[in-house]
Amino acid sequence: MKQPSAKTAPDGFSADWLSLRESFDSDARDVAARRMRLVERLQRWRSGAARPWRVIDLGCGTGSNLRWLAPRLGGAQQWLAVDHDAALLNAWPSIFETTDTPLVDAAHDPAQVARWPLPFAAVEIVRRQLDLAQHLEALPWSAADLVTASALIDLVGQAWLKRLVACCSAARAGLLLTLSVDGRHQWHPADRDDIWVSHTFAAHQQRDKGFGPALGARAVPALVQLLRQAGYRVMQARSDWQVDGRAHPRGQALMGAMVDGLAEAAREQLPASTERVGSWHARRMSSAPQARLTVGHIDVLALPPALPG
Ligand SMILES: C[S@@+](CC[C@H](N)C(=O)[O-])C[C@H]1O[C@@H](n2cnc3c(N)ncnc32)[C@H](O)[C@@H]1O
Repeated sequence: MKQPSAKTAPDGFSADWLSLRESFDSDARDVAARRMRLVERLQRWRSGAARPWRVIDLGCGTGSNLRWLAPRLGGAQQWLAVDHDAALLNAWPSIFETTDTPLVDAAHDPAQVARWPLPFAAVEIVRRQLDLAQHLEALPWSAADLVTASALIDLVGQAWLKRLVACCSAARAGLLLTLSVDGRHQWHPADRDDIWVSHTFAAHQQRDKGFGPALGARAVPALVQLLRQAGYRVMQARSDWQVDGRAHPRGQALMGAMVDGLAEAAREQLPASTERVGSWHARRMSSAPQARLTVGHIDVLALPPALPG
């Protein structure tokens, strides 16, 4: 999602934007997880494993994906959380205790190791700054059980997806890729220009974000095809945001941010239509306190094929 301009960091995603969306992401992941029986499947897949879960979180931002997934996985876990944005890696909340004990990726930056002592999960985390477009293959793939990413896959291009699936497949790692947009924006009540703005936004979303021309809403079908070709068992479930401008202040804030973000992208994409976009923006802002919006996302869980014999 393009972010509202006021919340956009100069070169990327702002911590404010990630914080605003976190509870919506969490609710949406819960719905998809129930539909996919995610926890049950993951636990069955790894039953009997003696060592802690080892998880790599790609494009981790301020750790929202880890905060959702780690308590659900339970047990001992070692996470490698990777992002290219140092400001986001430094903006993680203080629930995490830092320690000097070197863990998964100690060679790089032992000072970044943190612990999150939960009642049923002991989570150790290494945060690492890395450009995943350039250096994906440099990650410690052979140590990974599960590779996860939230709200990342729609930013990437086909060639990068192929590299990701090749790395995971060679390591026989599972994948959990959540909150990829699927292009649906359903407004209630509807406006005559909603569909036009959505289509314009979708075209803008395919601009290169550093990973080649972005797949946007086509990312999940492309990913699923690559995973199936590599022999993975793939499950998908909808993880839509349900944004209610009539409800609590967070709903109103996200609704406003969505209207701003969609309009800004549409203006950039179609500079000749600035007036039409501005009219849509004004109508949407004035109806926001009575409006509801569903933003379509898909979560994908992929488990590697069983070893022969
Ligand atoms: C939409 S945000 C999602 C953040 C986080 N996963 C979450 O769910 O809150 C996308 C993340 O990908 C990161 N990112 C974008 N391009 C990247 C790159 N080339 N290498 C590493 N991380 C990147 C951004 O910094 C940002 O944290």
